[in-house]
Amino acid sequence: METVILKPSEENIAKCAELIRKGETVAFPTETVYGLGASALSSRAAEKIFAAKGRPATNPLIIHVADKAQIEAVAETDDKSRRLIDALMPGPLTLVLPKKSVVPDIVTAGFDTVAVRMPDHPVALALIREAGVPVCAPSANTSSRPSPTMAQHVYDDLCGRVPVILDGGKCPLGLESTIINMTESVPRIMRAGSVDSSDIERVIGSVNKESVMIDSLADIKTPAHFVPKAELTFSAFYENMCSVIIGYYDTVALLRGRRPVILCTAEHAAEYGGREISVVGESVSDYASCLFEKIREAEKNNYDLIIAEGVPLGGIGTTLMSRLMKLSNGNVI
Ligand code: TXA
Ligand code: MG
Repeated sequence: METVILKPSEENIAKCAELIRKGETVAFPTETVYGLGASALSSRAAEKIFAAKGRPATNPLIIHVADKAQIEAVAETDDKSRRLIDALMPGPLTLVLPKKSVVPDIVTAGFDTVAVRMPDHPVALALIREAGVPVCAPSANTSSRPSPTMAQHVYDDLCGRVPVILDGGKCPLGLESTIINMTESVPRIMRAGSVDSSDIERVIGSVNKESVMIDSLADIKTPAHFVPKAELTFSAFYENMCSVIIGYYDTVALLRGRRPVILCTAEHAAEYGGREISVVGESVSDYASCLFEKIREAEKNNYDLIIAEGVPLGGIGTTLMSRLMKLSNGNVI
């Protein structure tokens, strides 16, 4: 199959909406990462997503909607979830809710719950609205690769396996949405994202944050054969972080013949002397927005070991560290 990249003009969005109505897949931008979408009401369409990504059938998809009424069509809401929907959607927040029977089992991997979110991105919203159906979409990467934050990343992973990529430029946030399971008596954060637990607690009171750092989804979604192209390791954040990273860099480069690169903030760039670095911006949120892009870039430049700086925990720092933990398989120095 030929894969085309299209600018998100009105005409192209209409074309893509038509493809979705016909049961095809379309990759599209959201404020978090690119998604690979298909009609959430068709099991044959959803099957194409699993096939294109090489995604295990045990890993459920998020349903994306363009308005709040569409949430009610696919899921049961209660008072707490409706308050969250009103306060924080559209936005980078996904609610896990009891599923309605219109949603085929393949979409939810047989679970009786369904994950739903309303993306805060004009192209995503226009596409879903025009398609007229809820759109199930995982991140548009090959399973176990970092999520794509640019159309080119989607192309690199899925060329020949999807018909169209809508190119909406870089995704502004760069890390996937916060996921909260609303079906537990105390709602539980299952994946950290740009919506912080404190934002949620302001709306519905206390939530269970125990598994925020470990990403409690990992056991259902990470296949045992997870193999990144370059090995990733990361540092915790502490006072002499740069010198610990330098020690590690010099040892692995010298003793193990590796070709390492350090992902660092601009503030520390000078401390690494002539060593290979890739600057991730000035702030923790800069770092979060380009982490996946920098990992893919390092792999393209044939580095075989990425050593990522840690950041202080709290807010987006916790989200960033949870992704480093997951992508490195807990490989911390
Ligand atoms: O920001 C995002 O959430 C992006 C964009 C495209 O919207 N999507 C995304 O989808 O990250 P995906 O499939 O890569 O990650 C969604 C996670 C999966 O790990 C899946 O296991 C979990 O959500 N999930 C989906 N439905 C679930 C359910 N009913 N119960 C528990 N976890 C669920
Ligand atoms: Mg994903």
